[in-house]
Amino acid sequence: MEEKYLNINIKLKRSNEIKLIEYKYKKRTHDERPMALDVLLQAQEEQYDDLAFRYGCRARNCGVCTIEVNSRPKLACRARVREGDTLSAIVTLPVIKDLIVKRDGITRQMKGYNNIPKKNDLNEDANKLYHNLTACIECYACLDGCPVHAKNNITDIQKNDAYKYGNPYSFLKIQRLLIDPLTPDSEKHTLIDKAKRLGLEIYRREYNSLKIKCGVGINLKDEVIKPLLDAAYGDEFEKDNK
Ligand code: SF4
Ligand code: FES
Repeated sequence: MEEKYLNINIKLKRSNEIKLIEYKYKKRTHDERPMALDVLLQAQEEQYDDLAFRYGCRARNCGVCTIEVNSRPKLACRARVREGDTLSAIVTLPVIKDLIVKRDGITRQMKGYNNIPKKNDLNEDANKLYHNLTACIECYACLDGCPVHAKNNITDIQKNDAYKYGNPYSFLKIQRLLIDPLTPDSEKHTLIDKAKRLGLEIYRREYNSLKIKCGVGINLKDEVIKPLLDAAYGDEFEKDNK
């Protein structure tokens, strides 16, 4: 017979201290396999009313619910949990409270990067590659394992400056604009310069061992990093990877 409960660990960070909650999730049906978000909502409702976590759409659209399940970044609204799993905040951004991380450093990093007067809001005349990149929901799961983002000092939570180094998400924004049919050629060198300032060179050195994964399945290595490296370093990059 199926158990009525699932034991799930919830690891919290509050005032720089780590706290471990061992929560007994009450299954709503005998065969339920809940999402991580279901566990957090029930824990908050039943026992820990001050438990802090973020969610929005509950449908893999808004990207704000990213947490770690057993130390891997996942969307809490789409990650099914099992007996003994551990939920915690993502380690790639500073924790504000419990499972909530400070995300605005990433947004600020890209402030002003798009100076093109006519924005392609309707994705006019765009090809399939461009449309693939519009699937990004800003969940920041791809910061995990990124050697460029790893160079940022994220420990100072008060720091409001944009991080100096980029991440797959910021490079995706640049690459999408580069292949946008409305981007004039005259703007393309500015975009490539921005990518270089964000540390694109690091991917060039570590391309073959690069392990980054997108939360919604975008092929970041082939559809973002490789074409950007080609655009920025051209033949030199091809030569380095033969
Ligand atoms: S590229 Fe993928 S993993 Fe990164 S922010 Fe966008 S959706 Fe999330
Ligand atoms: S709540 Fe919107 S993606 Fe999970």
